[in-house]
Amino acid sequence: MRFCSRYSPTKGWERLSGRNKFKQRIHRNNAENTALLDRYVLPTYARTPVTLVHGEGVWVWSADGKKYLDFFGGLAVDNLGHAPPRIKKVLADQAGHLLHCSNVFTIQEQAELAEKLVTLSGMHQAFFCNSGTEAVEACIKFARYHGVKNFGAEHYEIIVAENSFHGRTLGSLSATMQKKYRDGFGPLVPGFKAVPFGDLTAASNAVGPDTCAILIEPIQGEGGVNIPPADYLPGLRKICDEKNCLLVLDEVQVGVGRTGKLFAGQHSGVVPDLMAVSKALGSGFPIGACLASKKVADSVKPGMHASTFGGNPLACRVALETLSIVARESFLKKVAETGAYFIAQLKKLQKKHSIIAEVRGLGLMIGCELNRETGVQVVKECLQEGLLINAIQGKILRFVPPLIINKGHVDRAVKILDRVLAGI
Ligand SMILES: Cc1ncc(COP(=O)(O)O)c(C=O)c1O
Repeated sequence: MRFCSRYSPTKGWERLSGRNKFKQRIHRNNAENTALLDRYVLPTYARTPVTLVHGEGVWVWSADGKKYLDFFGGLAVDNLGHAPPRIKKVLADQAGHLLHCSNVFTIQEQAELAEKLVTLSGMHQAFFCNSGTEAVEACIKFARYHGVKNFGAEHYEIIVAENSFHGRTLGSLSATMQKKYRDGFGPLVPGFKAVPFGDLTAASNAVGPDTCAILIEPIQGEGGVNIPPADYLPGLRKICDEKNCLLVLDEVQVGVGRTGKLFAGQHSGVVPDLMAVSKALGSGFPIGACLASKKVADSVKPGMHASTFGGNPLACRVALETLSIVARESFLKKVAETGAYFIAQLKKLQKKHSIIAEVRGLGLMIGCELNRETGVQVVKECLQEGLLINAIQGKILRFVPPLIINKGHVDRAVKILDRVLAGI
């Protein structure tokens, strides 16, 4: 069955008829959308059969009018929540001026965004693209180029971590050390060597005469919300400086305020040579950035890398607005406080439910490891109860909610989890 609907905060969902019908988008119901997707979209996702059609702040509504508390956050993208007023405004404004024009011309919004990112990160210059994997690809290419041009044709090896996740294009996938993502796509790009995450001795021993870079997530996201020891990033920085290779940080998931600092590397004061940023940078609008130190930037020349859409006026305008909200000290402080509160509440829950093996996190990047592979079941039951969460690696519940959540939202989510875990 098809129906026309309109959401209003005072009246909720209304079915529309007559002439009004044509003013609104038609939403098919969940089952119809699932059938349509199954028929026409390649089955690369195991989708939840819920069609989300509207969002406001930390809440989202499905086509059938059900309301959900969103602790899934579009997988660490919707950091400002849904339909953030300031983002809505700049999107509409910029759309009325210039969406796209090509990097062949000078783009004022791009220049301003680059200046802002560089100032906030301590890096030197930026390259813009459209996604996390492209940002990592750019890091890989610039790191290789720097190594090969400065130290010889063999100087292209990159050390990465076991269990890493850097994206799905072939270069990023070759740096992704999880069998389930790599299987069947070989031969992958050569020159990547994996060492255990968090192990400085292993990283140091792995660096050889042909190593051009160490590429690492400051906290492994997809790999299980794995937090390395506090001396890990400073230790890697030291190794790279001593052994003349580049430190590359993949901040795609943990950047843009997620951990309570604008970039996760800033917790330990580490400035890398290359940094990949994406996901939340555009508050839901696709954008990626590769930030480079002066040393790397000096080897970059016109024509060696490019992107048609990367850094267009619309994406940059939205990212500028995003940063002007997220980079504020008071905003980041609240993320850190709410995250600490959430972790404390989950640890209390752990005392009650023996199925919780460990709670770990930083800011609002939080993992709750179960002692059984029941992650998917917990996610499904939370969905029934009106809470969106995510499970990774079979038994780890991952919480990457909008950064605007408050303690009341945390209490509500924890209460639902409490009920769900009691029934598992
Ligand atoms: C750490 C990290 N790097 C790279 C990526 C790839 O980003 P995208 O899916 O935008 O290509 C992801 C995506 O989850 C990620 O978590």
